[in-house]
This record gives sequence, C-alpha cells and structure tokens, in this order.
Amino acid sequence: MQKKQTLLSIAAMTLIAAAPTAWAQAQAQTQGKLKVGFMLPATGTFASLGTAIDNGFRLYVTEQGGKIAGREVEYVRVDDESDPAKATDNVNKLIKRDNVDVIVGTVHSGVAMAMAKAAKESGTLLLVPNAGAAAVTGAMCAPNIFRSSFSNWQPGYAMGEVAAKKGHKKIVTITWKYAAGDETVKGFKDAFEKAGGSVVKELSLPFPNVEFQALLTEIAATKPDAVFTFFAGGGAVKFVKDYAAAGLKKTIPLYGSGFLTDGTLEAQGADAEGLFTALHYADNLNNKRDQAFRLAYAKTYKLQPDVYAVQGYDAGQMLGIGLNATKGDAKNINGFAQALRSAKIDSPRGSFTLSKSHNPVQDFYLRKVVGKENVVEGIASKSLADPGLGCKM
Ligand code: PHB
Repeated sequence: MQKKQTLLSIAAMTLIAAAPTAWAQAQAQTQGKLKVGFMLPATGTFASLGTAIDNGFRLYVTEQGGKIAGREVEYVRVDDESDPAKATDNVNKLIKRDNVDVIVGTVHSGVAMAMAKAAKESGTLLLVPNAGAAAVTGAMCAPNIFRSSFSNWQPGYAMGEVAAKKGHKKIVTITWKYAAGDETVKGFKDAFEKAGGSVVKELSLPFPNVEFQALLTEIAATKPDAVFTFFAGGGAVKFVKDYAAAGLKKTIPLYGSGFLTDGTLEAQGADAEGLFTALHYADNLNNKRDQAFRLAYAKTYKLQPDVYAVQGYDAGQMLGIGLNATKGDAKNINGFAQALRSAKIDSPRGSFTLSKSHNPVQDFYLRKVVGKENVVEGIASKSLADPGLGCKM
C-alpha cells in the first residue's frame, strides 16, 4: 500500500513537472506559426540599412532554431521605399491583409511615425529596429510599441558634449530636412549650447537629395570651428566624399552622429579616415557577446555587421524576451511589456535597459574612423536616456 502510494505520487509529480512544457508545446501548436512582418526599405538610399536589419533579426531567430517561444517564425516583407506618403498603406498591408503577429520596422523616421499610429490604433506589436523619431517613444508611445535602436536626439546630444569638450565655439550643422535630421541637430544643440557653444547656422536639404554643392560653398564662406551632420546610407557616402572633394576636410573638422560612417566605410574609403562620430555601437568593442555576434554574422552573410545589424538582432532578442514571458501570446501586451520593462538586454553593443517610454537607455561611444573600422576612443555619454517628452502611458 505504502509503495503503491509512493509510486502514485512520483507519477503525479512527474506529470506536474512535465505539465508546463507540455502545455507550452500544446499552446504553441494551437497558436501556429509566428508571423513577423518586416516593413523595411529594399530600395533607395536606405536599402542596405534594411538588409542589415533583416539579416540581424534572422540571425537571432536562426540561433533559436527558427522558433520564438516555441512558435516557428514565418516572415512577410514589405518594401517601404523610405516613403512616408506610402507608409500608411504599406503598414496596413501587414496588419489587415497579412494579419501579422508583430511588425518589425523601419529605418526612416517619417515612415515610422505612420507605423506607430497604425500600431497604436490596432494594438499590433511594433518593434522599431532603427528610426529614431522622438514621437515613437514620446507623444505616440504605447504599451505595444518598443524601440531596439535609439532616439535621434541621443547620438546628437552625445556628440554635442564631445564637440564642446574639444573646445569648439561656433558650429554649423547640415542635414536632411525631416524628423531625423531636425531631432539629431536638436540633440546636438541641447548639449553644445548648454556647454557654452553656439550653432551659428543650420543648413538642410530635402530628403533624400544629395546635391550638397551650394551648401558646402556656404560652409566654406561661414568658416565655423567645425561642422556637425546627420546623413546615413547612400547620402552619407556622398556627403563624406563631397566634403573632402570640396577641400573642407583639411580645414574644418567634420563631426557626425555615427550613422555618417556606419555601414559606409567601404564606399567612403580614405575620405572618411579620421572622422569622429558618436553612436551606441563600434567595430572593436571586444566584449564576448559582440565577438560571438560578429563571428556568427560574418559566417552567415560573408559581411561585417554594422549598427543596423545589431539593432535588427536586438529586435529579435526583445521579441524573444517578451514572447517567452507570454508563452508565445503576441496579444498579451501587458505581459509582453512587463517582461521588457524589467529586462536587461544582452546586446552586442553592451547591455541596455528600456526607459519608461520603451527606448534604449545606453552608452554612446566616441568613435574614430581608422581604415575600415569605427574604433572606440572612449564613452561620449554614459547610460544616456531620451527624455521621452509627451509620453503618457
Ligand atoms: C531615421 O530616419 O530616423 C534614420 C534613418 C537612418 C539612420 C538613422 C535614423 O541611420
């Protein structure tokens, strides 16, 4: 009798112990595949950025055996062309036509704002793997919206502190006239002017134009101590080349948010040598996590990763953390958000947490271009948090 009871209770205990996994498996089966909707640029000046994000995200999923929280991952992809005018239609294809569980996108701030609006209205999970628009984790913040990248203000602010420390007083800024350019310059100005410097001229041209000549002539005539800029992708390649060709590189130091020289050095060649920028990633961080990531990325894609690849990878990690907490349920926004709000994300950039408005709180490195690498010179700004202005949730 005694023995029978013991056997019975062992059997019961085994059942209980096995239950959570068996239950999770059954749950994952009834949930079916996890549909991830990529909305990224596949054409235009930001095309290569979209590819790197896609690569990074898929690398994470492959490392998990193709599954997140027990659910096999399936991808749908829309080319957003970095065109805000098409953004609402494009994001609605993913939400309404494809019925995705989660949207991952995008690069361009103007497009991301339309995506945030649609995600907020529909309640669909949105992970932003680049676009730094303040509103996404500011006025438009929501429990279902998260960013794995940065806010535009952050790298600008970090570089403003550096420029002031270098002793510059008079600076001209130049960028594309849209949210990313305006907000990066705002960040730069906030830090630089707080430290006693002044931005004497703010030059801009419409996105994605690259006719820089007239503006470069104006910079030469203004003779500032230095120039600060935000350009990225194909536009950054051309700007760095044109700045050097105009003879300005020798006379007026050029500083940037790190996108100026990330994923672009092959094409920029010697014209980028020695440029200083600030960003939340660099090529020689030499931490174990980054070394493993870079090795896996290079093996898989025969390419070196850049900041965009890291942001894509971390969007994958964030999705993993959130969905593991909800046992794969992408509709359980509260559970998902709670897990991410208390998470420390083990990123190749160094670990980071999320602010109350779901934007990374992270270190910004001062980097210098040496050959084909953005080499760390030091920390420009430690644990920098975006103010998240206007976020109520
Ligand atoms: C943006 O539009 O927010 C943006 C685009 C490209 C970058 C960074 C920010 O590299």
